[in-house]
Amino acid sequence: MIHTEGMLRDDALKNKTIIVTGGGTGLGKSMASYFLKLGANIVICSRRLEVLEKTAKELQESIGGNILPIECDVRKPEQIEHVLAKAIENFGSVNGLVNNSAGNFISPTERLSYKAVDVIVDIVLRGTYYFTLALGKYWIENNIKGTVLNISTTYAWTGSGWVVPSAMAKAGVLAMTKSLAFEWADHGIRLNAIAPGPFPTKGAWERLFPEELAKKFSFESRIPLERVGDHQELANLAAYLMSDFSAYMTGEVITLDGGEVLAAGQFNFLKEVTDDQWDAIEGQIKNANRNSKKPE
Ligand code: HXC
Ligand code: NAP
Repeated sequence: MIHTEGMLRDDALKNKTIIVTGGGTGLGKSMASYFLKLGANIVICSRRLEVLEKTAKELQESIGGNILPIECDVRKPEQIEHVLAKAIENFGSVNGLVNNSAGNFISPTERLSYKAVDVIVDIVLRGTYYFTLALGKYWIENNIKGTVLNISTTYAWTGSGWVVPSAMAKAGVLAMTKSLAFEWADHGIRLNAIAPGPFPTKGAWERLFPEELAKKFSFESRIPLERVGDHQELANLAAYLMSDFSAYMTGEVITLDGGEVLAAGQFNFLKEVTDDQWDAIEGQIKNANRNSKKPE
């Protein structure tokens, strides 16, 4: 058994219809693909229809099942409602939503225009809220116990320079996750989130680790578990959170980052200390302990 294998049993998502925003590429595509394998009907949506159609065709041919690509800009409520209507028309109902769409790029904040912050916050925060609102209204009206999974980031709570609009927006998404998990719990609606560490995707790497940076900094050396994430690891966790196996979990944010976020630990710099140095340090501390027991 290894981490690159699917984790849940066959049919774990059977009879569920799940909308994955940004499901044509990257992590969204990997999650959609695994959900499809587990028996769910899938709707993938984003701005570029040709990308969605290509992904849908590829997954349909390699996995089978039902996958429906629909064009949708998550900043446009009428397009979200169109996605929901089409999903219901095709599959009868919708049970799950993965808010995975995002926009992001690195930049010194003082270089950003006013529009640059709008574009990120509108996709990530407003888009996630709009989609969740549309599904929440539908679920409450139809007495459906829906499940939402929001894809966040670890810097939503640590903060991070050079991606400030994204950090602000992702933090808002976490606040929404926890707030609605409580407010909608009595409707049986659950909301959880994943905070992934680095999982290589074309979309993120082109905008966050362009060649110039990739040559200078390697993730492997910064991450305690010394590797980047594998898409199947994230898909496994996402499938669990979308399945009934996680029925008692709501309002939770699960970090999946090889320990990257723990780097802030105050004494973690001690990683650099050698065994010989530890021998000397131990001696010094024990000596200090003995001295402190002697009368002044
Ligand atoms: C400064 C920039 C810029 C840059 C864009 N802008 N790139 N400013 N530095 N590198 C400014 C533009 O000048 C413009 O402002 C405004 O941002 C909007 O840019 P447009 O290109 O007009 O927007 P649009 O075509 O809508 O594209 C949206 C986008 C783009 C977000 C900028 O990157 C995109 O489509 N992204 C989708 C996919 C994505 O980002 N994936 C990565 C997700 S990874 P002005 O004022 O000049 O008009 C992630 C977490 C990663 O979120 C964590 C990793 C560990
Ligand atoms: P990605 O492939 O670029 O995915 C982003 C997706 O969002 C694209 O499919 C894009 O499709 C869609 N999108 C962008 N703007 C949209 C809009 N206005 N309306 C609808 N869809 C829109 O990058 P990724 O790495 O897989 O990222 C997926 C998620 O994981 C994001 O939420 C990201 O923040 C999160 N994440 C990723 C990492 C990582 O290491 N990869 C780490 C932490 C968090 P269109 O261009 O067709 O619209």
